[in-house]
Amino acid sequence: MTETNSASVIFKEFKEHSIAEFFKKNKQMLGYSGLVHSLVTVVHEYVTNSLDACEEAGILPDISVEVRPVEEDRYLVRVRDNGPGIPKKFVGKALATILAGTKFHRYMQQRGQQGIGAAGCTMFSQITTGKPVIVRSSTGDDDGYSCKVYIDTMTNKPVVTEVANAEVPRGLEVQGEFGSVKYENSDHGVYEYLKRTALANPHAQIEFIDPNGKTNLLMRATDIIPKRPVPVKPHPLGVSVNDILELAQISESRKVSAFLMESLSRVSQGKIDEIRKIVGAEALEMAPRLLKWDDAKALVKAFKAIKWIAPDSSSISAIGEQQVKTALKNILNPEYMYVVERKPGIFAGGVPFVVEAALAYGGNSGKKVAEDAYEGNILRFANRVPLLFDSGGCAITVAARSIQWKRYGIDLDTQPVSVFVNVSSVHIPYSGVGKESIAQEDEIIEEIKLALMDAGRGIQRYIRGKERIGTEAGKYKTIMRYTKQLSKDVSALTGEDQGKIESELAALVSSHYKDILNDKGSETPEEGEAAGAQDDSGEGQ
Ligand SMILES: Nc1ncnc2c1ncn2[C@@H]1O[C@H](COP(=O)(O)OP(=O)(O)OP(=O)(O)O)[C@@H](O)[C@H]1O
Ligand SMILES: [Mg+2]
Repeated sequence: MTETNSASVIFKEFKEHSIAEFFKKNKQMLGYSGLVHSLVTVVHEYVTNSLDACEEAGILPDISVEVRPVEEDRYLVRVRDNGPGIPKKFVGKALATILAGTKFHRYMQQRGQQGIGAAGCTMFSQITTGKPVIVRSSTGDDDGYSCKVYIDTMTNKPVVTEVANAEVPRGLEVQGEFGSVKYENSDHGVYEYLKRTALANPHAQIEFIDPNGKTNLLMRATDIIPKRPVPVKPHPLGVSVNDILELAQISESRKVSAFLMESLSRVSQGKIDEIRKIVGAEALEMAPRLLKWDDAKALVKAFKAIKWIAPDSSSISAIGEQQVKTALKNILNPEYMYVVERKPGIFAGGVPFVVEAALAYGGNSGKKVAEDAYEGNILRFANRVPLLFDSGGCAITVAARSIQWKRYGIDLDTQPVSVFVNVSSVHIPYSGVGKESIAQEDEIIEEIKLALMDAGRGIQRYIRGKERIGTEAGKYKTIMRYTKQLSKDVSALTGEDQGKIESELAALVSSHYKDILNDKGSETPEEGEAAGAQDDSGEGQ
C-alpha cells in the first residue's frame, strides 16, 4: 500500500519567499544565463542606469567601463559615470534591494523600469564570488562616500558596510567581481553592446577599457542632451477595463467625469460630452470608487467609438532623425542611409510609442562574413538600449523578417546593410524581466513594418543605381579588354596605325560609360543621405 500524506503534513513545508530568493533561483530570467551573456547583462544594467541618471539630471554622460580578467570565467567590472550620484542614505535600497528604485512608479520614458537591474548585479556578484559590490559616489553637494553593499536575500534587505567619506567626483562608480562570466569579442559581446549603445546615444561619451587593458573611446557625436523624460497619462484608446478600475481606486476626483479628465490624456470637456452621449449622464456623475466592472467596460467601449487626437509625443524621447544620421555616420560611416521617424502610435494600456528606423548601406554597415562578402544585420533598440539577445521572439525581428526586402533591391543575405530600429515608449512591453526583446504587440509590429518599408523605398533608388553601375562597370571592363585585339585586327585589315585605332576605340567606349567612370549612376541620388518622409501607404505587406 502506498503511503499518503495529509494536507497538514504537506503544509508544514509552506513558506513565503522574498523576491531576492526568487531571482537567486531564477537568475536566467534577469539575463544571467550563459557566460558571455551574463557579462553583457552586468555592463548593460550599470550603463543603462548611468544613461538614465544623466538624462534625468540633464547631464551629458561621460561613462567609463572597465572589464578586467581576474581568473578563468571571473572578471572585475567597474562602471563610472558623471551623473547625479546616489545620496548615501539611498545607496542600499538603490543597489541592493530588488524592486526598489526611482522609476517603477513613474509613467515616464526611461531605460530602466523595474528596480531590479542594479540589485540583480549585486546579487549575481554575491552568489558567484561571495563578494559585495564596492560603491563610490558623490551628489556634487558633498565630498562623497565609499561603501560596500550586498543583499540579505532571505529578506531582500540591503546590507551596507565600511561606509567612509571619500573624495569622489560627482557621479557613481560601481565595482564588482563576477564569476560564471566570460569576455568575448563577438556580436554578442560587451564591446559590441557598447558600440551599439553609442549608436543610439550619440550624446554619450563611452570609454571602454577591455580585458587586454586597451582603452577604446566611443566619442560623443553631438552635444545635444535628449530632453528630460516627462511623466504622461495613459491614452483612452489603449486602457483596459481593469486599468480604469485601478486608476479609479486611487483617484481623488469626486465624479467619474473629472476622474477621466485627470487620469487620462486627451480627455477634454468636449470629449466628456461625447462620452456622456454614449454612456448616459449618470455614469459620469458617480464617484470613481463606485465604478463596477460593467461601468468601466461601458466607458472603454465609448472611448473606442470616439475620434481622439494621437497621444502626446512630448512624453517620448526618440533619438531624432538628425541625431540618428549623425550617430550612423559616426559609427557605421555608411555610403548611404535613409532614416524614418514615425508619428506616435498607441498599444494596449494606452501607452504611446514611437518607432524610428533606418537603413544604412556600405561602409561598416552589415556584417563582413569573408573578404568582400557581407550580410545584413538587424540592430534592435528599445528606448535607445541595444537588444543583443533573444532576437527570434522580438517584435523588431518579426517585423523586419516579414518585409519583402528584394522589392526594394535589398538582400540581407549578401549586402552590407544595417537595419536599425529603435522603439521608444514610457513603457516598453518587454517579453520578460531580462528586457531582451520587445513583446509582439500587433500595433508595434505594424508601425515597425511601415517605418521599414518607408526606409526601404528611400534606399531603393540608391541600391538599384549601384547595381546598375556594377553591371555597367562589368560591361565596360569586358569591352575594354577587346579593344586591343580588335584594334590589332582592324589595323591588319586597313593598314592604319594600331595605337591610333586602339586609343580612338577606348575613347569611344569611355564616352559611352562616362557615368560609370565618374562612379555615378544617373539613378543614384546626389546626396549620401536622405531624410525620411512620413508615408502610410503600407503597400499591403
Ligand atoms: N548610475 C546611477 N546614478 C544615479 N542613480 C542610480 C544609478 N544607478 C541606479 N540608480 C538608482 O538606483 C535605482 C535602482 O536601479 P536598478 O537598475 O536596480 O532599477 P531601475 O533602473 O529603476 O529599473 P531596471 O530594473 O529596469 O533597471 C534606480 O531607479 C535609480 O534611482
Ligand atoms: Mg536599471
